[in-house]
Amino acid sequence: MVTILQGTGLSHDVAIVRDKNSSLELFRNAVKRIGIHLAVEATKLLPGTNSTVTTPLATTEAIRISGSVVVVPVLRAGLGMLDSFLQLIPQALVGYVGMKRDETTLAPFEYYKNLPPSDSNTTFIVIDPMLATGGSMAGTLNSLMELPHSTIICCSLIAAPEGLMAISKGFPNVQLVIGVLDDCLNDQGFIVPGLGDAGDRLFGT
Ligand code: PRP
Repeated sequence: MVTILQGTGLSHDVAIVRDKNSSLELFRNAVKRIGIHLAVEATKLLPGTNSTVTTPLATTEAIRISGSVVVVPVLRAGLGMLDSFLQLIPQALVGYVGMKRDETTLAPFEYYKNLPPSDSNTTFIVIDPMLATGGSMAGTLNSLMELPHSTIICCSLIAAPEGLMAISKGFPNVQLVIGVLDDCLNDQGFIVPGLGDAGDRLFGT
């Protein structure tokens, strides 16, 4: 269950985030816009309930999002797309998971977790700009799997085939929405051609 986005407007913004000469402001704003593309796609996957609505003229059929939605930005870089998702799903709750990759072993380390209550109708939307080895996403998903939920959607701006495969195989019920699928990982675990380190470029570290 993988969706890879397409479109000229999206590609234009992918070029901006790839460009090593893009300023912090250009980079940050392009990440937000790509976040909107991802959020639109994620909203198509939300469970819905049939209901009715009364307009000024008549009562008609309506579909509403069923259950609560919890957006989970993976710290730090996921914060760069949070506003985009909250613009489209303003009623969403927000849960935070902090994951840091060890630069040598590439193993993720969870340093923070604060998630709102969920129930069997909750949809989690995990957002992280980068899916490299998939270790950070897998660690986050392992935490969410222990909690009651109905649906989990993962959204990444850019992915390596290695990370995509790891999540698809390890979490077959999770729906993945990817902005752009790149060629491979290099020896340091960076996505190639990629965009560098999203967290560093978003926050100037
Ligand atoms: C980066 C990125 C992802 C993760 C992807 O975070 O933002 O969270 O690595 O790599 P993976 O798929 O191999 O786990 P990083 O650990 O650099 O932390 P940061 O967001 O604080 O920069």
